[in-house]
Amino acid sequence: MSYEHNNIHPIFDKILKRSDKEELLHQHSIVIWFTGLSGSGKSTIAKALELELHSRGYISKVLDGDNVRTGINNNLGFSEDDRKENIRRIAEVSKLFMECGIILINCFISPTHNIRNQVKEIVGAENYFEIYVSTSLETCEKRDTKGIYAKARKGLIKEFTGISAPYEAPVNPDIEIKTEEHSIDDEVQIILNKLLPRIEFIEA
Ligand code: ADX
Repeated sequence: MSYEHNNIHPIFDKILKRSDKEELLHQHSIVIWFTGLSGSGKSTIAKALELELHSRGYISKVLDGDNVRTGINNNLGFSEDDRKENIRRIAEVSKLFMECGIILINCFISPTHNIRNQVKEIVGAENYFEIYVSTSLETCEKRDTKGIYAKARKGLIKEFTGISAPYEAPVNPDIEIKTEEHSIDDEVQIILNKLLPRIEFIEA
């Protein structure tokens, strides 16, 4: 019997689901979402977390301003509308990765409840794992790793989060990380304690 004849093909007949890919990768996918001020430490913790997950056999992808705002979102600025569009696209891209069984580690200021709710709607609340990096404005400004706060204070950068644009702290994050109190290793451990039960693949 030819496949062309009855329009059935043994491969195309089976549509692979997220769960098939999770089984293959031996992990459950999830969208880990770091929110916090610029310079709060989101990307630093995310990279350490990715390294630790990798060493434990988990595949993940870090998305942050460096790889997203220079590429897919290089036409967006920092107005309220542009930030919302920035985060909407990131959430949609995350959903595609998630459907492939990959763990997302996203680091974006994502400054408002409204913007973060949009993520939850797109990826699904059950897939959204929020980590609030609650480093104070004072500390971020003191660190000023990119020299960007100095510029914002001089008025050279408009609508700067924490200075001339709002940051609304999450009300009920899955985890709050206080970088002023912990080492990076401790922070990764705090995250793993709550994250591992969500991503561990238990053989049926
Ligand atoms: S978000 O608000 O849309 O979520 P995102 O996380 O992508 O922001 O980008 C934040 C990074 O862009 C900051 O760490 C900083 O380096 C840079 N940046 C440039 N202009 C601004 C601004 N007006 N407000 C905040 N961050 C800015």
